[in-house]
Amino acid sequence: MSCYGTLSPPEFAGAPQRRTTAHHDTCLADTRLTWHNRARPTRRTPRFQDTTRNPMDATVNINGVVSRGEHAVISVFDHGFLYGDGVYETLRTYDRHPFLFEPHLDRLRASARRLAIAVPVTDQELADRVQDTMRTVNPEGEVTLRILITRGIGDLSYDPAVCPDPTLVVIARPLPELAEPVTREGVRLVQAQVVRNSPESVDPSIKSNNLLNNVLAMQEAVREDAFEAILLNHRGELAECSQSNLFVVRDGEVLTPPRDAGLLRGVTREFLFEVGADLGVTIREAVLRPSDLDTVDELFVTSTNREIVPAVAVGDQIIGSGRPGPVTLRLLARFRELAVAHAHESSPLAKSGSPSAVG
Ligand SMILES: Cc1ncc(COP(=O)(O)O)c(C=O)c1O
Repeated sequence: MSCYGTLSPPEFAGAPQRRTTAHHDTCLADTRLTWHNRARPTRRTPRFQDTTRNPMDATVNINGVVSRGEHAVISVFDHGFLYGDGVYETLRTYDRHPFLFEPHLDRLRASARRLAIAVPVTDQELADRVQDTMRTVNPEGEVTLRILITRGIGDLSYDPAVCPDPTLVVIARPLPELAEPVTREGVRLVQAQVVRNSPESVDPSIKSNNLLNNVLAMQEAVREDAFEAILLNHRGELAECSQSNLFVVRDGEVLTPPRDAGLLRGVTREFLFEVGADLGVTIREAVLRPSDLDTVDELFVTSTNREIVPAVAVGDQIIGSGRPGPVTLRLLARFRELAVAHAHESSPLAKSGSPSAVG
C-alpha cells in the first residue's frame, strides 16, 4: 500500500502534501519517502500572506529625491537598466529599526568596489536617506528596504568613464509576511538545472543587479511550484538557492556550503553563526553534494526577508521526517529574539527627539 494514502488539499506553494492515513508513523519510519505520487496542487497558493499587494506600494528615494512608487522613474540610459551594471542590498526592519545595517553597508561597499563603482555617500548619509524614505511606509509595521547603486547615466558603452555619477536609489516597502503555513509545514525546494555562476565569471559573492542566473533558477522553481531552487556550483556541489543560503542539519550539527563553493555570503547566514553559538548549536561550513540530502535530518534556507524557512522536500525527495525539524525551529525562535534586540541596539536611525526619528 502507498505510504501516502489520502492526501490533504494543497495549502500553499511548495508545501509537501501530508499523508492523513493511520499509516503515517509507520511510513515515516520507512526512512526516505518520495514525492512522486503526491497530489498535484490544483492552484498555486501564496508564499506571502498578502497576495493582492500593489508593487508600486512603495516610497522611493532617487538621488535624494523622495517620491511615491508610481512616480519613481529612472532614465533608460542608466547603466543599471542597460547592463545590470550596479549593486544592491535588501534589508528589513525589526520594530522599525533596520537590522544589521552595518554588515549590509559593508557588503554594499565591497560589491561596489568589485565593480569599480564609487559609493557617492557616507554611511551616515545613507542612513539618513533610509530614514527619510521609510518614514511614512507601513507606520504600524515593518519595512523592507532595497538600496541600489548603479553605474549611472551614460552613453551606450561599457567604458565606465561615460557614467560620471552613480545613481543611488532607496526603495522602502511594507515587509511582505510569509504565509503562515510556510514555517508551520515547511516548503519544497527543487534542484535547478542551471548552474551557479562560477566565481571566475560573475562572482556570486558580488551582490549585483545582474541577476539572470538567479532569475533562471527561480523560474525553474516557479514552474515546479516549489518555494526555492537550489543551485549547484560548477563542481556539482550544493552552493545556495536563487535568493537564499542553504543549511542542512545532520546528527545535531548544522552545515552550510563554504564560501568557496561560490555563493553570496548572506548577512542572515553570517548572523546565524552567532545564533548557533548562543544556543550551543554547532554551525560550520562543509562541502555538500546532492547525495548528502539522502542522509540529512533537516534542511532550511535563510535570507533577510524570510529569516529561516524550513524545507521538507527537494524535488521528489522527502527530507528527514518530512516536517520542520527541532534544530531549525530552535534556531528560528532564537534568531527572532536576537534580531529584535540587535536591531534596537545597533539602529542607524536618529534617536527619538530628532526631526527625522521614526516610530
Ligand atoms: C543568491 C542569494 N543568496 C543568499 C541570499 C541571502 O542573503 P541575505 O541573508 O543577506 O539576505 C540572497 C538574498 O538576496 C541571495 O540573492
